[in-house]
Amino acid sequence: MTETSSGQIPVGIIGGTGLTELDGLEIVGEQRMDTPWGAPSDVLVHGRYGHQPVVFLARHGNPHRIPPHQVNYRANLWALREAGVETVVAVNAVGGIHADMGPARVVIPDQLIDYTWGRPSTYFEGELEQTTHIDFTYPYTAEVRRSLVRAARDRGIACSDFGTYAATQGPRLETAAEIVRLERDGCHLVGMTGMPEAVLAAELKMNYGCLALVVNWAAGKADHIITMEEIEAAIDEGMADIKQVLAGSMEA
Ligand code: HPA
Repeated sequence: MTETSSGQIPVGIIGGTGLTELDGLEIVGEQRMDTPWGAPSDVLVHGRYGHQPVVFLARHGNPHRIPPHQVNYRANLWALREAGVETVVAVNAVGGIHADMGPARVVIPDQLIDYTWGRPSTYFEGELEQTTHIDFTYPYTAEVRRSLVRAARDRGIACSDFGTYAATQGPRLETAAEIVRLERDGCHLVGMTGMPEAVLAAELKMNYGCLALVVNWAAGKADHIITMEEIEAAIDEGMADIKQVLAGSMEA
């Protein structure tokens, strides 16, 4: 286990679309890493949020250039683990399916369904001595979720404290019929980066929570098609709340 000079274990933050840099983070250094699974999306940025040491990683690289289906999720989680991270807060931009989850809403989901395909999604393959089937009943760690929900409440930020995240393959957005199907499946929000990130964290026995920002109504949920302008406006509006929740959760 790696500890910082203060003896505290750093929290990992994986920033998604709209969060390639973290203002408010006092940066103390950068670390270029390589892993048995290849290179992570970017350098690991070591810093502090108040007293809490943090390791930040931009999921899509900085600048944002790696599409969701080509992110090296295995390298990203492995690198964070190597840097001593035991708890990861993942920030994800999503489309809203549930009526309460419109643009700029903060959501802390509690379940997921994986619709991705063809992504390297386990560390347990190759020359193995035994097969491993990890438990994944609850994909998000209760304590991480609690601290995010508490931080949102303490800072007066409206958030949904439940939600089933549909992880889709992308990079295209969904059809309206696909969203009807996801809704029928019980999904409340849809994004392209939630898996295999969550399961890889579980395989590495890391705590993992998702802090999602709704950036558009999912396909067919509004009376217009989805535009990048709409997404950017929601990011501009909602990312300040996400940063507040992150900062608050680091104080707890
Ligand atoms: N679908 C999938 N992923 C997304 C969306 C969406 O509508 N918005 C942001 N990421």
